[in-house]
Amino acid sequence: MVTGWPFFVASPEEHVAPALDLAEVGPGMRVADLGCGDGRLLLAAAQRGAEVVGVELDEQLAARARRRLAEVGLPGQVLVGDVLADELPEADVYLAYRSPSMLQELVEGAGLSRRGVRLVTVATGCRD
Ligand SMILES: C[S@@+](CC[C@H](N)C(=O)[O-])C[C@H]1O[C@@H](n2cnc3c(N)ncnc32)[C@H](O)[C@@H]1O
Repeated sequence: MVTGWPFFVASPEEHVAPALDLAEVGPGMRVADLGCGDGRLLLAAAQRGAEVVGVELDEQLAARARRRLAEVGLPGQVLVGDVLADELPEADVYLAYRSPSMLQELVEGAGLSRRGVRLVTVATGCRD
């Protein structure tokens, strides 16, 4: 289990559907959660018929996310990896609940701004 930074804070359940609505997540779309935590966004996207893939630094959280999908019999991939260092999975929509500075790093480092993809972040009043 990773302790300290980076830390896991789950998206509040009431933010999950609006985030997916904003990205117009639907059947057949490829959705990647960059730092997928316990997989709640992956699960919700998979329930809408999206192809989901999560990347998570923390192995235990990745296992939890896999279990979450498996428990309801939905397909999806959860990779243990570092989204700032590893190649990102191809997707139509990227979800990332991160601080503004980490989002900036992600967008610039991984070149998300050049890919013409949708990037949706869940914010709960964090500042940095
Ligand atoms: C704020 S939580 C969000 C979890 C989930 N996406 C959600 O919205 O409920 C951020 C997650 O990103 C993971 N994380 C942080 N840095 C990471 C990195 N460089 N690569 C992959 N995962 C990372 C953390 O372990 C944590 O689970």
